[in-house]
Amino acid sequence: MTENNKKKVLLVDDEEYVLHSLKRLLLDEDYEVLTGVSGKEGLELLQGNEVAVIVSDHRMPEMTGVDFLEKARLISPDTVRIILTGYADVTAAIDAINRGGAYKFITKPWDQGDFMRVVSDAVRQYETVKALRSSDEGALLSLAQAVELKDPYTRGHCERVADYALIIAGSLGLPEELKKDIKHGSWLHDCGKIGVPDAILNFNGPLYKEQLELVKNHSRWGANMASLARLPQAAVNVILYHHERYDGCGYPAGLKGGDIPLEARIAAIADVYDALTSDRPYRLKMDELQARELMLSQKESHFDPKLMNIFFNEIACLKTDVI
Ligand SMILES: [Fe+2]
Ligand SMILES: [Fe+2]
Repeated sequence: MTENNKKKVLLVDDEEYVLHSLKRLLLDEDYEVLTGVSGKEGLELLQGNEVAVIVSDHRMPEMTGVDFLEKARLISPDTVRIILTGYADVTAAIDAINRGGAYKFITKPWDQGDFMRVVSDAVRQYETVKALRSSDEGALLSLAQAVELKDPYTRGHCERVADYALIIAGSLGLPEELKKDIKHGSWLHDCGKIGVPDAILNFNGPLYKEQLELVKNHSRWGANMASLARLPQAAVNVILYHHERYDGCGYPAGLKGGDIPLEARIAAIADVYDALTSDRPYRLKMDELQARELMLSQKESHFDPKLMNIFFNEIACLKTDVI
């Protein structure tokens, strides 16, 4: 990594040995590290640097870690904030999350592997939110494509999901603005997979319960990043609710029927249809007819039946080479 590409991590702790040992860990992983021995120093460093992640101790004289994070949030809202607390300091951890908008808390003494994982996830979140903040469509699409690279089987998936979703949206005569949000939400529906380890995403077999939970978290993570980037609500809804099912047995919220936002009910159909008609590590792709039959058999349990009819009527009218 060149000096310019290195992500900056700001460490704030009044104990020099803590700064020293955390700094050593981070330098090994090629981060650029800034250190401050007080909240005041931390704030000064934040003024003059683009910092991806802050790791701050809580118990410090003059300014507590929570107070520091609260101020840091105003100076640099996108910087991801992590607090270090003692084992028994639950109140500080909760305060840090509520008041300082902390992303995670790490208890002292920390496990080196856990610490590095939390920091690298935080850096990834920072980069993703920055990319999502871009008003340029090209940047949004390249972010979606970067997520697809984690799983080669999904190449082109997000664009096809958007194309299918827009077929339904077009048939419903939805306003242009909403169609744009549906397109962007569909591109980015799986952007939370950026937080799922590659080994799990590409695992060729059934996943353990905990691994499955990690994968399932992608809709919340993605939606959280999209909200932080202030994407329109309809786009966030697509990301958050694209795995809800019409019968209420989906995730993450278990919403049912019309409680699932329309844009997410549309994207769910587009997502599953494309998944079925593409090769996946665990099965070969189905042809259009097989996919249609399977999905129609799940009409009313998995999908909005009215939207399903619209979708299959519309694609029947189109030649398969168009889709
Ligand atoms: Fe998904
Ligand atoms: Fe998907």
